[in-house]
Order: sequence, then structure tokens, then C-alpha cells
Amino acid sequence: MDNKKTREQWSGRLGFVLATAGSAVGLGNIMKFPWMTGQNGGAAFLFVYIVVMLIIGIGMLLCDFLIGRNGKANAVESYRKLVGNKFTWMGYLGIFSAMLALSYYAVFGGWMLHYIINSFTTLAHIDPAEVGGFFGGFVSQVWGPIIGTLVFLVMTVVIVCGGVKNGIEKASKIMMPALIVILIILIFRAVTLPGAAEGITYYLKPDLSKITLPVIAAAVGQCFFSLNVGTTGMVNYGSYLREDEDVMKSTIQVAFTDFAIAFFAGLIIIPSAFAFSIDVGSGPSLLFVTMPSLFAQLPAGGFFCFLFFVLLLFASLTSSVSILEIFVPYVTETFPKVSRTKASILGGVICLLLGIPVSLSFGMWGDVRILGQDIFSLYDNFICIFAYPLIALCTAVIVGWIWGKENAIDAVSNHGALGHKRIYDVWFFLVRFVCPVLLLVVVITGLVPFLQGLFGG
Ligand code: ALA
Repeated sequence: MDNKKTREQWSGRLGFVLATAGSAVGLGNIMKFPWMTGQNGGAAFLFVYIVVMLIIGIGMLLCDFLIGRNGKANAVESYRKLVGNKFTWMGYLGIFSAMLALSYYAVFGGWMLHYIINSFTTLAHIDPAEVGGFFGGFVSQVWGPIIGTLVFLVMTVVIVCGGVKNGIEKASKIMMPALIVILIILIFRAVTLPGAAEGITYYLKPDLSKITLPVIAAAVGQCFFSLNVGTTGMVNYGSYLREDEDVMKSTIQVAFTDFAIAFFAGLIIIPSAFAFSIDVGSGPSLLFVTMPSLFAQLPAGGFFCFLFFVLLLFASLTSSVSILEIFVPYVTETFPKVSRTKASILGGVICLLLGIPVSLSFGMWGDVRILGQDIFSLYDNFICIFAYPLIALCTAVIVGWIWGKENAIDAVSNHGALGHKRIYDVWFFLVRFVCPVLLLVVVITGLVPFLQGLFGG
């Protein structure tokens, strides 16, 4: 969006929901959700995730939209308008965390590009036993993944320079439904693989004894990463919202679309991983090792591989664009002489510099430990179980205790024009009392790996 006196607005509810869902749905759903589920107890994680989404995720997403609509400016300014200068650091922390997130997001984006390029050749008829070697051989290189990261960031910058309406809204209307269709086809293939039943049970039958504090913290972090809560990005998106928009309804639609896609991805990847004896706890490699093995079981596997990774690339770009959109309006509105193009390029360069160490951490810097963590985990833990929950915690305090019930309900109900009073009361109760307590616990849990790294043990 341009740095104009009158801010642009979404063309209507469908435009807003699609663009926001496009910003939420991406690698977080299709790549990260299955790997987090695999690392955190399978169905137990899924169960906690659903509860977290209902109790915290939706409510906090709604807060972000309302703060943005009220502020009609970038996140830092929107917080300032609401509560003065006390909380502007949150806007800065959000921008910094979002840039960190985009830096590793772009590394994964580069991996996807490599898969797209190879889908009709090596990947079209790869033996499942060789996929791990294909993946590891690429990500452990120095230059290939860095060039991939660069290309992904260039694509992101080009789209951001083109403006939200042209770039995001139009394309979302075609690509998102196409992605859902291919996911549904893949679910049918995955769940009917020999050996998939064990994976389905692992994914859908919770063992509640696996629910621990770190699992809850991981679910909160994943929910926020997926919905972009705590990034301040949704404050930005909310700033372009029309005054007559039913924000709660849109928020629920966005959250359910986001969850449905993550759930579908899990239903493809986890049963497939069991069927091909791939370790579901293997982390970021899970999608990249499992999917080609699944495509090999389909007629025209190369074509499916190509289509899947192109659609995933698109979904990731709509997310990466929204992350860069956190940085760009802040720069252009704070320094009016800096053009949108220059601010976008600057953001891209910063992310590239931050992304290079992450890329190398999957290869020659694999043994580097900072505060006891590898470089990727350091970024990811800082963002997901510390910064985003901390920002969300402050947001809950701002909305629940400083803005207060009268103002918040006036805002969500469009000054009383919408009539879902009971639901608004429940939302406000959760934001005022439940979210702060739960998020405080998550932030403290999130500090543990850093303190362990600092003090050892
Ligand atoms: N919310 C974006 C995703 O999940 C970052 O991919």
C-alpha cells in the first residue's frame, strides 16, 4: 500500500478474508505444523493446538485487527495511538521478530525452488530411499541454498512493490482453492498407503499423558506463527479494514481456513511418513523427504510434485509478502522520503543477511551452538515461544485492561451496529483474564532454553 494520506482499504470482506488467509496460510501450515506435530506427541499436540486456537489464537488475532483498524497506521503508530509511547517497543520487537522469521522462511522458500526445478527430472522417478540423500545433499551446500533464498526474497520484494490489491487479492482467489484441491487429492493417496494406519492413529488418537508445558508452549508458538499473531503484521492488515466490516466473523473464517489447511497437511504427511518409515520427529526436513516419496506412488508423480511445490511456493509468497509488509510501512511512514521500493529492497537485504547463517546451519555450520541451540532453533525459539507470545501478552493487557471493555466492545461491534453481545463478552473475558495468565506461562517457558544456554544445564 502506498504511503498516502488516505489509506487504501480492502475491496470487501472476501478480499480481506482471502488476503488475510493468504498471509496466514503458508509454510507454517504445510511444512511446520506437521513437523511440530511429529516432534510434540502427535495427536496430543493436535488436541492442544485446537484448544489454544479457540482460547487464545482467535481472540488475539481479533485484538490485532481491531488495534490496526483503530490506529489506521503501521503497528508502531497504532500502538502509540491507543496507549501512548509505553508500548511502542512492542511494535519494534514485532518488526524485528518478523524479519527474523522471514529470513528463515526465505531459506525454506529456496529449498522449495530447488524441488520445483527438479520435479520433472530427478524427483519424477526418485526411489523413496534416496529422497533423504537428495534433500541433505542440497541443503548442506553453501551456495545453492543461499541463491535459492535470494531468489525467494527477490520475488517477495517485487510483489511488495506492486501493492497489496494487485499482488495479493487477485492471485489468492485462484491459488488458494487450487491448493486446497490438491491437498484433498493427496489426503486420499496418503491415508490409503500400506502402513499409513499407524500414522493416522498417531495423528488423531491423543495420548493425553504427552501434554506437557513445553508442548503447550510449542502449540501456542505454532498457532501464533501460523496466524501471524504477535508479529504485529495483522495490526497492519487491520489498518486497511473498513469501518463497517464484521471483524469477528472475518477473524473466525481466517482462523478456520488456516487450521483446516494445517490439519490437511498433517493428514498427508504424518501417515505418509509412517508408511515410508520416515522419522516424524525429524523437523524441517519432514515435508521435503516425505512428499516426493508420496508423489512416486501417484501416476504422473512429477507433475503432482511440480504442482504441489508451485502452489506451496505461492502460498509462501503471500505469507512472506505480508511479513515484509510489517517492515515497509513502518519505514515509509517514519521516513517519508524513503520510497516504498527502497524500503522493500532494504527489508529484503536485511532478511538475506539474517538468512545466510540459518542456511549454513543446515550444512557447514551445523555444529555451531549459540546459547546451547543451533542457529535455526535459536531464531525459531526466540520468535515463537518468546517474542510473539510476549507481544500477544502485552496486547491482551492493552486491550483487556487499558483500552477497556467499553472501548473494545464498541470497536468489535462497530459501535453497537452488530449484535453478537454474548460472544463479545466471552471474547473480552478471555482476553482480559485467560490470555494474560496463559501467555505469561508460555513466555516463562520460552525463556528456559535461553537461560539453560546462558547458565548451562
Ligand atoms: N503465517 C505464515 C505461515 O504460517 C508465516 O506460513
